[in-house]
Amino acid sequence: MCGIVGYIGHREAYSIVLKGLQRLEYRGYDSAGIALYDGEELNLCKTKGKVSDLKDKFEETATSTKGTVGIGHTRWATHGVPNDVNSHPHYSNSGNLVIIHNGIIENYDTLKKELIKRGYTFESDTDTEVLVNLIEDVMVNEKVKLGKAVQIALNQSVGAYAIAVFDKRKPNELVVARLGSPLAIGIGENEFFIASDASPFIEYTSNAIYLEDGEMAVVRTQKQIKVRKIHDDSLVDPYVQELQLNLEQIEKGGYEHFMLKEIYEQPNAIIDTYRGRMLVNEGIVRMAGVDDNIERLANAKRILIVACGTSWHAGLVAEYIFEDFARIPVEVEYASEFRYRNPIIYENDVVIAISQSGETADTMAAIKLAKEKGAFVFGVCNVVGSSISRESHAGAYTHAGPEIGVASTKAFTTQITVLTMIALKLAKHRGTISDSDFRYHLQELDRIPAKISKVLEANDHIKLIADKYKEAPNCLYLGRGYNFPVALEGALKLKEISYIHAEGYPAAEMKHGPIALIDEQMPVVVIATKKGHYEKVVSNIQEIKSRKGKIIGIVTEGDEAVRDLADYVIEIPETIESLTPLLTTIPLQLLSYHIAVMLGKNVDQPRNLAKSVTVE
Ligand code: AGP
Ligand code: GLU
Repeated sequence: MCGIVGYIGHREAYSIVLKGLQRLEYRGYDSAGIALYDGEELNLCKTKGKVSDLKDKFEETATSTKGTVGIGHTRWATHGVPNDVNSHPHYSNSGNLVIIHNGIIENYDTLKKELIKRGYTFESDTDTEVLVNLIEDVMVNEKVKLGKAVQIALNQSVGAYAIAVFDKRKPNELVVARLGSPLAIGIGENEFFIASDASPFIEYTSNAIYLEDGEMAVVRTQKQIKVRKIHDDSLVDPYVQELQLNLEQIEKGGYEHFMLKEIYEQPNAIIDTYRGRMLVNEGIVRMAGVDDNIERLANAKRILIVACGTSWHAGLVAEYIFEDFARIPVEVEYASEFRYRNPIIYENDVVIAISQSGETADTMAAIKLAKEKGAFVFGVCNVVGSSISRESHAGAYTHAGPEIGVASTKAFTTQITVLTMIALKLAKHRGTISDSDFRYHLQELDRIPAKISKVLEANDHIKLIADKYKEAPNCLYLGRGYNFPVALEGALKLKEISYIHAEGYPAAEMKHGPIALIDEQMPVVVIATKKGHYEKVVSNIQEIKSRKGKIIGIVTEGDEAVRDLADYVIEIPETIESLTPLLTTIPLQLLSYHIAVMLGKNVDQPRNLAKSVTVE
């Protein structure tokens, strides 16, 4: 989720690794660390904060910054709050091995318990420290070298990783592996670079191998690189590519903007968010923050949701989901209004605070007020250790990874993913959902990432529609039921990055005033999926058409009725009604993105906006 860098060769590693970490800063992170081998000792330094803090601390404390082998890491915490101890690199118990890791080891808890039984101790709360001690345990018990030990250990691990492991007893090699998190190997003249992307080494070499999922490599100076399949140790003939990308393109993963990159990251972000939590085959959802407080949550007389902006829209979707599945009354509040309204809050209320940054001042103030009145506060944040997550009594993180673009995209869909899992758990506990329906919802949620990928294939078609309507002075977004909040979210996306005025409405609300706005200059985006009041929405479309409005329909694949009425349609795959927001929001993200780009707007940093509104 964040950044790894390594070097082994004939140059001084320190400046290469440090600058490499600086190059990865764009990925967003909460802490950083570095380990160098100076020929005798490992000099390791790590700290919460920025790479500049790491540089200062290392140069103040390290006995040496020498050495031609080094690894470095910028962390986006998933297990263990951001602090010095939880930062990477992590030592094994013997102090011989060090590891850096991007990703999540899902079964770390089981592995940790077994290692503790074998006498291992742990300094940190991370899953990564478990992995390095598992590797050490394999080396000791199986009497194998580092490369083999890494392979065996990874075959016992479940989750996502891009790792680099170093053994100070064998200082001429680094072992790297990837599954689910990116890892590139830069190939120089008798020197190798490893990194999450090519930005740390593009100035030294443009020859690179991008490991495929399930591959590992032992990188040795004076030797050819060997790439193997982790699961069966078979050799792989790696494809060495000549990189044509420039530094800026690499930082954005080849995308023009972070926002577009993050739109396309949504399938993986959702997988990372339910990874290790949703066990489809077993038909269970396990979330520590919910399981540990299940009675308090399931017996809530009311759920209050407080949030701002896109997170507030996710809260509105959650209102439908919680009331539909768990039959618990839900009220969704703008945090900025809630905090000043002298609201009525009961002790048996549950307050859910939703915040990507976990630092939004209004949301923080709202939960402090709720806590003062005795409510139980549950946080849904994307930044581990953020203020709101620490202020909450319990919580569940989205694992979207850093969201750099100001316009929130993957945060929205991963928030809905977490809230859906929570609602299903509460419904199961309250007996308001059958086991078969529960399982069916898990199976369908598991299919959502692939369905989002299918919607993303419509990008060129959506770009064509954007070109058609980019000059519109206003735009309306309509949706019903679960997709009413998506209409609001689509309007917000367009407003905040293209500066075109847009409004979202419940589709049925048109006739109570807004329909007066309809004329042939007014594009109207209508979410008209086959689920939920479809016929009513088609009637709304007809009302708009009869007033010459321009209609862009978001429809279920194969829909003919809306296609005949609308000027353009964008298709989404069939899914259950409660999950349609995860699909219908995608075309709206892309539509606003392309319009903003065509209008020459600063998509990643729109005027007047900040990524996290930490002021009132
Ligand atoms: C959404 O695209 C905006 N960036 C904004 O509305 C944002 O959702 C809002 O400021 C809340 O931020 P948070 O989720 O970090 O609390
Ligand atoms: N899961 C690891 C941790 O929380 C790695 C997180 C990351 O990808 O930076 O330390």
